[in-house]
Amino acid sequence: MTDRPYETKYWNVQQEEIQETNENIREAAAAIQSQEAVAFPTETVYGLGADATTPEAVDKIFQAKGRPGDNPLIVHIATREQVETVAENIPDQARKLMDAFWPGPLTIILKSNGSAAENVTAGLSTVGIRMPDHPVAQALLKACALPVAAPSANQSGRPSPTTAKHVLDDLTGKIYGVVDGGATGVGVESTVVDCTGETAVILRPGGATKEDLEAVIGPVKTATDFKNEKEQPKAPGMKYTHYAPDAPFWLVEGGVDEVQQEINRLNKEGHTVGLIASEEHTDQYQGATVRSCGSQENLHEVAHKIYDCLRFFNDSSVDIILGETFPKKGVGVAVMNRLEKAATKIIK
Ligand code: TXA
Ligand code: MG
Repeated sequence: MTDRPYETKYWNVQQEEIQETNENIREAAAAIQSQEAVAFPTETVYGLGADATTPEAVDKIFQAKGRPGDNPLIVHIATREQVETVAENIPDQARKLMDAFWPGPLTIILKSNGSAAENVTAGLSTVGIRMPDHPVAQALLKACALPVAAPSANQSGRPSPTTAKHVLDDLTGKIYGVVDGGATGVGVESTVVDCTGETAVILRPGGATKEDLEAVIGPVKTATDFKNEKEQPKAPGMKYTHYAPDAPFWLVEGGVDEVQQEINRLNKEGHTVGLIASEEHTDQYQGATVRSCGSQENLHEVAHKIYDCLRFFNDSSVDIILGETFPKKGVGVAVMNRLEKAATKIIK
């Protein structure tokens, strides 16, 4: 069998009124019900969805993405009633978070009730659940009436997709279809918070910030607060290479001067250089192709554009990509988490 067995259907719903009765949504939902994997937009990034209760369907996600089998998937739901179809022993603080953040960019780790397929949870006793805040995702989830397992719809290791084009660049021929609902809003993935212990722990920073969560449930830990490895909550996805563009990506700490010095050094060695910079600095560099990813003053804009910037240089001939750093506050924490993971080198 070839590794691109599908024609990959393209359902464009950008101009349409989105309801679960929409013809394209119904077709995409029927594909999920017949155990195919279908990509769709959420408010964070595009997801690649399949029936979370059927291991054969979920396996198609792992095959298409080339994803390691020990990295569990998030289960997406449309209604609060669906939580209990996959989880049990739901603590009060988890319910408070659901009330405050759903639908929205927060994934809550709960005790699994065993209904999600084993490859969804990667054999763990817990399951990650989220209710996305996007009309297309909601219509699709309602139309198929199933809990849908969905990782980001990129080839494993590459930047997450924020447009249907990004999905098709990575997965054409490998998935049944993609629903195009336009560019996603938030741009970085959901915050993953583990609610199975006394204190909630952020395993992955994302669209909902630590301060947002603490305003609702009080003190929250982050995975990096645990120095003792035994006590550390399980964050299986964190050990893998992530978000990497095709060319080497180096993050340069400091200001415009430090970045310019690195460009000069690389130019002298004969390298062509790409640079991801903030809007304020784009005109200040020489010797590099500069791509703006938004204002230092508007980290939501940076989050929205960052994956497109990481993919932008794939279609150009630069042989090294440099990146400026951003303030680690608010959604900037998630942006820097992704940039640090994407980087092959951090120049201090
Ligand atoms: O915004 C998002 O969360 C997007 C959209 C499509 O919903 N999805 C997404 O999925 O980012 P993915 O597979 O790329 O990342 C899921 C993360 C991984 O780091 C995984 O290890 C973690 O969630 N995760 C899932 N289930 C878990 C569990 N039971 N325990 C601990 N971590 C879990
Ligand atoms: Mg991902």
